[in-house]
Amino acid sequence: MKNYSKDQLEQFRQRAHALIPAGAHTYSKADNQFSSNAPAFIERGSGASCFDYQGNEFVDYGMGIFSVSLGHAYPEVIEKITQQLAYGNSFTRPSLLEGEFAEQLCDLIPSAEMVKFAKNGSDVTSAAIRLARAYTGKEYIIRIREQPFHSFDDWFIGSTSRPGGIPDNIKSQTISASYNNIEELQSLFDQYPNQIACLLMEPVTFDEPKDNYLQKVRELCTKKGTLLIFDEIITGFRWHLKGAQHFFGITPDISTFGKGMSNGFPCAAIVGKKEIMQLGNMNGPVFLLSCTYGSELTGLTAAMATLDVFKKEPVIENLWSYGKQLIEGISQQIEFFHLHPYVRVRGYACRPDLSFHEEDGRYSFALKTLFIQEMVKHKVLMERICISYSHREKELQQTLEGIHQTFRAMKTALETHRVRESIVGAIVQPVFRF
Ligand SMILES: Cc1ncc(COP(=O)(O)O)c(C=O)c1O
Repeated sequence: MKNYSKDQLEQFRQRAHALIPAGAHTYSKADNQFSSNAPAFIERGSGASCFDYQGNEFVDYGMGIFSVSLGHAYPEVIEKITQQLAYGNSFTRPSLLEGEFAEQLCDLIPSAEMVKFAKNGSDVTSAAIRLARAYTGKEYIIRIREQPFHSFDDWFIGSTSRPGGIPDNIKSQTISASYNNIEELQSLFDQYPNQIACLLMEPVTFDEPKDNYLQKVRELCTKKGTLLIFDEIITGFRWHLKGAQHFFGITPDISTFGKGMSNGFPCAAIVGKKEIMQLGNMNGPVFLLSCTYGSELTGLTAAMATLDVFKKEPVIENLWSYGKQLIEGISQQIEFFHLHPYVRVRGYACRPDLSFHEEDGRYSFALKTLFIQEMVKHKVLMERICISYSHREKELQQTLEGIHQTFRAMKTALETHRVRESIVGAIVQPVFRF
């Protein structure tokens, strides 16, 4: 374990910025997402903790941006990967694990009749788009405007505030509707008659589906000959082991999984109806997914080991019950400090979220920064809230104590009109600015 001085770490940070655009390979891990006192680098993790290069331990709520669902360096997962590595990792013919894991997913997930694996969520959502266009012969894509991310590929990035390098015709083919607004969806179908290949959406993000929204979405897509694709990259293995599609009782045509399915190792999956998926067969018209590392074995082994733990132990129950207690504890503190207009807690218990607001309701990045900064002082890294199976009573108590002290500091800053002055360094910025 290393122990670097503050000055050394600052030099590493500057070097990263000189060599790597944004200073980090994933935008949401970059400096501008965190308060300046947050650790710039993480050396290691164990369970629900991560450690910086000065030996400081934090309760981690980033968890590899939602990819670590059991806990860092989870023993059962590490043990199986280590065994596999001794046998080699990449070969020129498939391993038996591919078929075995595909079978497990088909048994589990309502929409799964065939499966293809990849490494990133982006790979599989983009593969779903290609399949939908080939299957329907239509070109337009509908996405939900409040859902922040589906892929690093052109079809999605072209619809964000950073569309540089993407041709106009691609940008114009992705259109948006708001969640829970079935009328807007209907009007897009009217505006683009017989042209919409798919609606790609997370079944849920924070707001509950209202007034049978998901059932109506399913019916509308079927009626219009448009494929319904559920991006379950966050919701899968969190709302329910069989996916949020099972939780809500809606079966999409295609769905995509990633993140939490392999406890931080690279594995993602597209699953769907055979009739659609088989367009990607060897003699089919779609080049579905094919890459050198598509079947490397650390990701697949990790995913299988992770699924075993999910099946044997109350992982999902813990996500829900921890989240429920966290939401209750945070809500009590909001009440206690009368912070209602400024801090809101939202979302399902298995994926709670905090949002920060000015008095007029606009989002406040300054308050968000102050929150992250004060929580870091109490050794809790909470720029988002990802709960894992390793988050237990000890973490809950430390977090709620941190929340209490943090809300006290925020209250004082608000009352004295010194929010900006209370922040050391820059205010966090969204990855996409709308
Ligand atoms: C809902 C959702 N879909 C897709 C993706 C893309 O996954 P990846 O970053 O693994 O490419 C993300 C990543 O943040 C996501 O949150």
